[in-house]
Amino acid sequence: VNTRTPFIAGNWKMNLDHLQAVATVQKLHWTLKDAGHEGDGVEVGVFPPFTDIRSVQTLIDADKIPFALGSQDVSAHDSGAFTGEVSGAFLSKLGVTYAIIGHSERREYHSESDELVNAKVKAALKHGLVPVICVGETAEDLEKFGASAVPVGQLEKALDGVSASADIVIAYEPVWAIGSGQAATPTQAQEVCAVLRAVVGRVLDEDAAARTRVLYGGSVKSSNIASYMREPDIDGALVGGASLVVDEFAAIVRFQK
Ligand code: G3P
Repeated sequence: VNTRTPFIAGNWKMNLDHLQAVATVQKLHWTLKDAGHEGDGVEVGVFPPFTDIRSVQTLIDADKIPFALGSQDVSAHDSGAFTGEVSGAFLSKLGVTYAIIGHSERREYHSESDELVNAKVKAALKHGLVPVICVGETAEDLEKFGASAVPVGQLEKALDGVSASADIVIAYEPVWAIGSGQAATPTQAQEVCAVLRAVVGRVLDEDAAARTRVLYGGSVKSSNIASYMREPDIDGALVGGASLVVDEFAAIVRFQK
């Protein structure tokens, strides 16, 4: 039996300042309410820029909005002389639940290595955050090694030394599908997500494999979300561009309708 709650997560990337963030979360909440959405067993997550987190958290608390809050990154360090870094301790104190780690944009533009991703995963867990571990192959990797070799290697390294009881989420984001409008087919995505779940089984244990949510990310829209959600090893989506358009994101959350 699949007991994994579907998770629809919006990664805003570097978009929306704190005022826009508050307006967006409020609008999303009301759009879902107006549509008669009562949670419907779907967890909704928003991942705003760091500067928005405090404002969004205050709003979520005050209006009892049932969205989980996440950050787009976290430091591998607890505190100290690390200019510009944000500690997981600060994030969990702010009511943040999730932290995206190893997004392909950080791997590419900030040279994040598998070792750093692993250290960040451990730091997140240490501070009570659930890491959303991103893995995925580039178009070039796909051609050279097929779809799963690179994400499997990235995930094995990300999970090195992680306890089998850890609460984690995995996001399979083929780099060629991100922001390109060229989404992976549900069959392609399912295939890699199943392989990644098997990696969790091998590196952690079978119980972890059965309970860990594996998300697909890359050009997810309201028109294709249901086809991913029908796949047995896809438990949700990490949505970029479409998470910035409230009606579109609300329609993704309501994929069962
Ligand atoms: O983290 C989500 C992301 O990288 C996917 O972006 O714009 O293709 O939905 P997008």
